[in-house]
Amino acid sequence: MSGAEIRDKYLQFMKNNGHAIIPSAALVPENDPTTLFTGSGMQPLVPYLLGETHPKGTRLTNSQKCFRAEDIEEVGDSSHTTFFEMLGNWSLGDYFKKEQIPWIAEFYLKEVGLDPKKFYVTAFIGDASAGVPKDTEAAELWQEILAKYGVSNSVAELGSAEEASKRGMKDGERIFYYDAAENWWSRAGTPDKMPVGEIGGGDSEMFYDFGTEHDTKFGEHCHPACDCGRFMEIGNNVFMEYIKTEKGFEKLPAQNVDFGGGLERIAAAANNDGDVYKTDLL
Ligand code: GLY
Repeated sequence: MSGAEIRDKYLQFMKNNGHAIIPSAALVPENDPTTLFTGSGMQPLVPYLLGETHPKGTRLTNSQKCFRAEDIEEVGDSSHTTFFEMLGNWSLGDYFKKEQIPWIAEFYLKEVGLDPKKFYVTAFIGDASAGVPKDTEAAELWQEILAKYGVSNSVAELGSAEEASKRGMKDGERIFYYDAAENWWSRAGTPDKMPVGEIGGGDSEMFYDFGTEHDTKFGEHCHPACDCGRFMEIGNNVFMEYIKTEKGFEKLPAQNVDFGGGLERIAAAANNDGDVYKTDLL
């Protein structure tokens, strides 16, 4: 499947689910002194995630051109680029987990036709210091969905990537709880790194298993968030509902969804070859 076909299918799928298609914003952000480049689809939407009314409504989608200098040292492996396109959909205080997770599963597994046997997901284990609970709702939604696709759906608590590489994965495990280093998303990273005023939330990510042999240079055992190249992250549902304040984390005026999925990586999964440089997009 070509990158253009995946992009069209995604935008049409989200349109059919009530989303307005918005254009890709400029790579150099306008009126935003916090960053030099647009590095994610949510970047131009920050004011609306903070509660401003968007002229196109509360359900938005696009394919955003992005530049991330933070990945520059990784360029040269099979999955990192500095420039990429990110498929995105947003709920601005409209739908939340119980709509997003089934939709995105349908997009990956039916529309793109990825093999459910190679599809792995994660959920946020919670963070006591930020006062954010474990995301059992996301894990339970995935359990129901994966059962419908006829694949095993047992859940494992991994915590940190380091603990995960010591423990490894057991047969049938497909939904993995990780800590904030893996399953929290904000533009600044983990909750402790966020400046006051920054927004973020726990997330639920999707990974594709390319079945390559584990490289112990990256840890004793493989697991979905391992960097050895067997698994590749192909999308991230961020449940953007917190803002950092002087007093700690508070809830935003609304619960938002911020989904981002790298188009080149989804195309690599669709081609069943974990090298993004072999997709027609590159
Ligand atoms: N905004 C979600 C992501 O970049 O993964």
